[in-house]
Amino acid sequence: MYVVSVINYKGGVGKTTMTANLGAELANRGMKVLLIDLDPQASLTFSFYEPDDWRDRLRDERTVKRWYDGLRGDTPAVTLGELVVSPGPANAQLKGAGRLDLIASHLQLVDIDLALARGVADGDEYDAELFRVRGSLDQGLHDPALDPYDLVLIDCPPNFNVVTQSAIIASDHL
Ligand SMILES: Nc1ncnc2c1ncn2[C@@H]1O[C@H](COP(=O)(O)OP(=O)(O)OP(=O)(O)O)[C@@H](O)[C@H]1O
Ligand SMILES: [Mg+2]
Repeated sequence: MYVVSVINYKGGVGKTTMTANLGAELANRGMKVLLIDLDPQASLTFSFYEPDDWRDRLRDERTVKRWYDGLRGDTPAVTLGELVVSPGPANAQLKGAGRLDLIASHLQLVDIDLALARGVADGDEYDAELFRVRGSLDQGLHDPALDPYDLVLIDCPPNFNVVTQSAIIASDHL
């Protein structure tokens, strides 16, 4: 499994568009692709799900926010594999044996970033906690449920906060 993050500090330069289309085309060519939306704007998620659909089917149970919540101990931990969804219309158009799955984002992921940053900015524990949070996505991607994927494409927000840092640590390429 190969992990690639699409990152640029500047906003609106085509990160999400490239992530969605690269993922879809590689899936069309037969690869098993997992997209991860780490941007609270959730543009990648809304490339594949209508906002109403996201609210009804994904918001409470199936977004990456739940996973980062688990890191802070606010809610029971989940595995990344439990959060994967398969956008039906996109997959219906694939020609071969490829697959295009998604871990969706959540508008409140922005709060997670702030809370994680606050949590790690405290006294002696600073280094250890920051180290743990930065490495968390890398750890999470070792979930055996994700082994079938050939490629993980991560769409990052236009910032360099802790969530973005965790994507960089998890990636083979940026
Ligand atoms: N190759 C392209 N040619 C013309 N317009 C494009 C191209 N790629 C993206 N766009 C348009 O540019 C706008 C910004 O694209 P996109 O949302 O992918 O950028 P982004 O870098 O992900 O933004 P953000 O930093 O806010 O996440 C969108 O309206 C998109 O349709
Ligand atoms: Mg974007």
